Amino acid sequence: MGRCIVVTSGKGGVGKSTITATLGVAIAEAGAKVALVDADVGLNNLDLVLGIEGIVGYDVQDVLKGRCRLSEALVKHPFCEELYLLGSRALVGGELSLRAFSDIVNALRRAFDYVFIDSPAGIDDGFQHAASVADEAIIVTTPVPASVRDADKVSDILSSYRLRRVSVVVNRVRGDLVLKGDVMSVADVVGVLRLPVIGSVPEDDEVLRAATVGKIGDVKSSHYRAVCMIASNLMLGTDTIYDCTAKYRGIVGFFRKIAR
Ligand SMILES: Nc1ncnc2c1ncn2[C@@H]1O[C@H](COP(=O)(O)OP(=O)(O)O)[C@@H](O)[C@H]1O
Ligand SMILES: [Mg+2]
Repeated sequence: MGRCIVVTSGKGGVGKSTITATLGVAIAEAGAKVALVDADVGLNNLDLVLGIEGIVGYDVQDVLKGRCRLSEALVKHPFCEELYLLGSRALVGGELSLRAFSDIVNALRRAFDYVFIDSPAGIDDGFQHAASVADEAIIVTTPVPASVRDADKVSDILSSYRLRRVSVVVNRVRGDLVLKGDVMSVADVVGVLRLPVIGSVPEDDEVLRAATVGKIGDVKSSHYRAVCMIASNLMLGTDTIYDCTAKYRGIVGFFRKIAR
């Protein structure tokens, strides 16, 4: 049975979908079979982040309504072998029952090594369903107090679900500002949340470019390298965290820092 991991957050717009999609690419590139489920109904955009919005036909609601089989709704990524998406549209009438959602996720678990659920922020149905069926959770936060406080609330809520592990990804870290002491460091965030950190991901213009042209997973980008470390931590149980401040240290780093 594959592992089911829910990716969630307290606040929206912190990078859940981007991290879910990039983790999917990184783990599939490492040779595992990965299914991504877009459970952020209404704000669904995993297809866009993956650059495959044109080819998503059936979605999770069609499976639930019996309009198609699960295998027909799964969209294979055109460039990444072993990566599939189960997309989502806005729900009419909120008819997504926990039972039906759980059946779909269990079917995916039998066919894939990893099932990632891109869940809505907060506590709506999509969040509860995702948290109820997952084995593990990743909370994504940015290193700003409002986002961390909301992540803390979600962490509290998640403690009432039966999850084997809840860990944190600190996204959009500006290493130059951390070194200047202007923003929270990863250690500061962990100090507030008191959860294990599974990754730190730098602010990277490449994400914006990739989101615009719909092509994630550029092996040269710092974002992808940081996410690959998260993939390795998940798959191999390693404990490697990308150091977002490294490139701003030393003499070259000094000039990079003042050039920003
Ligand atoms: N590490 C990053 N560096 C720069 N921009 C990022 C990063 N992560 C996410 N973004 C941008 O932030 C915005 C929100 O990301 P998204 O993944 O859609 O968030 P969510 O799914 O949590 O709502 C997008 O425009 C995305 O391109
Ligand atoms: Mg999203």
